[in-house]
Amino acid sequence: MAIRKVGVVGCGLMGSGIAQVCAAAGFETVVREVAQELVEKGLKGIEKNLARLVEKGVEKGGIAEATKEEIRGRLKGTTAIGDLRDCDLVIEAIIEQLPAKKELFGSLDKLCPPSTIFASNTSSLTITEIARSTKRPERFVGLHFFNPVPVMKLVEVVRTIATDAVVYEEAMAFGAKLGKTPVRAHDSTGFIVNRLLVPYLLDAIRALEEGVGSIEDIDNSMKLGCGHPMGPLTLLDFVGLDTTYYISQIMYDEFKERRFAAPPLLKRMVLAGWNGRKSGRGFYDYSDPAKAVAMKF
Ligand code: 3HC
Repeated sequence: MAIRKVGVVGCGLMGSGIAQVCAAAGFETVVREVAQELVEKGLKGIEKNLARLVEKGVEKGGIAEATKEEIRGRLKGTTAIGDLRDCDLVIEAIIEQLPAKKELFGSLDKLCPPSTIFASNTSSLTITEIARSTKRPERFVGLHFFNPVPVMKLVEVVRTIATDAVVYEEAMAFGAKLGKTPVRAHDSTGFIVNRLLVPYLLDAIRALEEGVGSIEDIDNSMKLGCGHPMGPLTLLDFVGLDTTYYISQIMYDEFKERRFAAPPLLKRMVLAGWNGRKSGRGFYDYSDPAKAVAMKF
């Protein structure tokens, strides 16, 4: 079955990025949010990204104004879940809470034809468990994208023990059509990237707690010593401390290994509402948009 029309549920940071890359890859795309102002906010962000690409110019890897208009023409925002009824693939990118995801897929299962493939962008919940809320676990996969979605080249394509082999290959081919490199991953908590990334990020916090180095020196070490685009503490602020804390709890619960356990400092920062860049403060203070300043603990 050819995927022509894609539904994206959630138009936040991840959902809007996913919707953008789907429309840019030529798919008719409907993105759904619960309120009109959230639809507008998400579409505004996409508009801004596309305008930046037009400004860059085609010769430098950007896009033409006409291409931007075509992409916008393929993209529709909605608050009505019913608008997803004729999608060939629906990708969910809503809040990381199992009951919310199960409720959504329960509704989508009743709405969409049996041929529609369902995918979740969850970073840490078990795909098998989300798929249980539908009568089509064989047509259910994980499609885990990375922030910022238009820039990061990877998509983890996750199969459960129930995923049909043909459906899985369709999902792999879809990831490639988006211009991403799809990698094959089993439905193991954290998949590949977070299995490796989360202990690394948590270890950076432990190194800070134990006084091995300062915030700037830990970040510069991994940036300049290992060629990472961002140091781990900057990356934590970028991903969100609350998000990382939540993922680490799920991974610790699954594996019961210390490397996935949240360090006390992370817990306290989340309790204090220092969730990173989005809240204006994390390991760095972002009050001055021109320069992030390392916090003093
Ligand atoms: N949306 C769209 N495009 C963006 C963007 C955004 N939010 N942020 C940056 N860009 C684009 C810029 O326009 C620029 O494009 P250009 O090269 O065509 O001009 C390009 O990305 C580079 O941006 P900048 O020059 O402003 O800044 P950097 O060179 O520092 O790059 C970065 C920014 C791409 C975010 C880079 O720092 C990076 O790769 N950081 C690591 C990000 C990462 O590891 N993400 C994965 C997080 S883990 C995750 O998402 C999984 C979850 O489950 C936890």
